Amino acid sequence: MPDTVHLGSGKVRELYALGTDRLLLVASDRISTFDVVLPTEIPDKGRVLTGLSGFWFARTQSLCPNHLLALRPDGRSTECRRLAMLPIECVVRGYLAGSGWKDYWTTGEVCGHRLPPGLTESDRLPEPIFTPATKAQSGHDENITREEAARLVGADTLDAAERLSIALYRFAARHALGRDIIIADTKFEFGTDGDGRLVLADEALTPDSSRFWPADQYTPGRPQPSYDKQFVRDYCEKTGWNKTYPGPPLPADVVAGTRARYVEAFERITGIAFADYLARPEAVLAGAAGAGRP
Ligand SMILES: Nc1ncnc2c1ncn2[C@@H]1O[C@H](COP(=O)(O)OP(=O)(O)O)[C@@H](O)[C@H]1O
Ligand SMILES: [Mg+2]
Repeated sequence: MPDTVHLGSGKVRELYALGTDRLLLVASDRISTFDVVLPTEIPDKGRVLTGLSGFWFARTQSLCPNHLLALRPDGRSTECRRLAMLPIECVVRGYLAGSGWKDYWTTGEVCGHRLPPGLTESDRLPEPIFTPATKAQSGHDENITREEAARLVGADTLDAAERLSIALYRFAARHALGRDIIIADTKFEFGTDGDGRLVLADEALTPDSSRFWPADQYTPGRPQPSYDKQFVRDYCEKTGWNKTYPGPPLPADVVAGTRARYVEAFERITGIAFADYLARPEAVLAGAAGAGRP
């Protein structure tokens, strides 16, 4: 690949420049938990994330333009438009979990959204809310107020990012619920193209960028089991690991169980057998015409 230059590594992806205006995002099988990348990989996890993102990109084009140009035959590499990324993470929450639940418990608010009293952990919110965060270079992302986010990206851009984020979340949450998966919350990343248009980038609506909960086990009033990482989290808790680097290596049964959950999430949401995706990644892009209209 003569015109390909390695630009850097994220926690999960390797970034390459393709010429001047395109990127190749290669999703590895690395897994992180409690923000620590573990020494053991989950086979095919990067393919699951790439395929799911492609599935959603193909179906939400009419809601929001996105960066996808092509999926490569390896199933883990995405060719995309290279954008100027906004320095915020666009988080949408449909349920009370994680830092949202903690903030509500102490203040009755989540990032400036006053919520009705009497909600319990994991409750569904009356309406999804937009709670932007900073992109931390290392460690935990931090919630910020609307005003801080507006200072970072401009008020009009923030309004547009909020509107698009909520629309994307509503569309995906409805689809996923029909397949017995609750998308409790999710994080989008947007960039701007040469014409200053907002474009959805990165990965979208995957178990890594979202909280996926099995709908059949949903019980508010406690934390919900995570669709994909529960085996890993349970195992890590058992070892007494202190949640800092280095993380513990994972035994074979934890790896196999976790892989099966990622594949199951993929198959449920896309309705496509994972083996068919491996044989022909573009399968996730087909059949999307007309989808995603509000
Ligand atoms: N279309 C794009 N143009 C430019 N940068 C992008 C695009 N899509 C994704 N990115 C960036 O590529 C990186 C993806 O790598 P990843 O491993 O997910 O990183 P992280 O550890 O920050 O989650 C992120 O920094 C993301 O902002
Ligand atoms: Mg990422």
